Amino acid sequence: MSSESVYNDHHIDSYPIPIMSISKQRPIGVFDSGVGGLTNVRALMERLPMENIIYFGDTARVPYGTKSRATIETFSLQIVDFLLEHDVKALVIACNTIAATAGTKIRQKAGNMSVLDVISAGAEAALATTRNNKIGIIATNTTVNSNAYARAIHAQNADTLVRTQASPLLVSLVEEGWLDHEVTRLTVREYLKPLLVDDIDTLVLGCTHFPLLKPLIRQEAPNVTLVDSAITTAEVTAQALAETGLLNTDNPAPDYRFYVSDIPLRFRTIGERFLGRSMEQIEMVGLG
Ligand code: DGL
Repeated sequence: MSSESVYNDHHIDSYPIPIMSISKQRPIGVFDSGVGGLTNVRALMERLPMENIIYFGDTARVPYGTKSRATIETFSLQIVDFLLEHDVKALVIACNTIAATAGTKIRQKAGNMSVLDVISAGAEAALATTRNNKIGIIATNTTVNSNAYARAIHAQNADTLVRTQASPLLVSLVEEGWLDHEVTRLTVREYLKPLLVDDIDTLVLGCTHFPLLKPLIRQEAPNVTLVDSAITTAEVTAQALAETGLLNTDNPAPDYRFYVSDIPLRFRTIGERFLGRSMEQIEMVGLG
């Protein structure tokens, strides 16, 4: 029995159940507008290999990156309800667009539960990385228009130059699997041009899909350090679980469940590319 276990009074005379151990077995709830958030699940699986994970991807209503704040808030709160019903112990907002627009409402709903998100983690990592205090962000239109990255960065350092570039075409190119295609290369080059003119030394991959383009982006911007929000979010999730005593260290065969609101053609192929491994349990559920 671990020293931090707490016993449930009701069972103390019969079968003592360590409450903290039970809580630790609860899954982490990860969610996204679609398949892209699987890059976060992949990073979480690598950083926290003993955690159970439930993923929800709103594949019926993706993309969110072109939708309004009000719509994204409504959809996101429906997803959060679903995950809370599944007794998650923490929430990870894997979608930059959701984090940019609905983060506040989600935190209100989650109460005391830890809510981690790609924008807070990405902004912090970018500030820790930059040497010349010039940071570039590539993201969807809605994320760029929300100004959420600049706000998160300026809250910590008002003197940082933040240049954002909406890069919507890259979402489709990644889903098409054109990770090393000439069309993608030219598109990346075009989007990065204004950021490189401004001499950024750090680039935040502010969209779930962009970590898959890291090799290509590195070739196009060899002197720029890339911040992969999936990796930094997994790191802050590990910290939050440790701080709240909910880190699972005793679960050698974790359970991974994938829920989606639609199973489109090629979903499994695209999903497995994002996840970097096979997806066994995929279930379709309707929301709203
Ligand atoms: N998941 C979204 C993001 O990270 C990209 C896809 C979408 O537009 O819904 O911003």
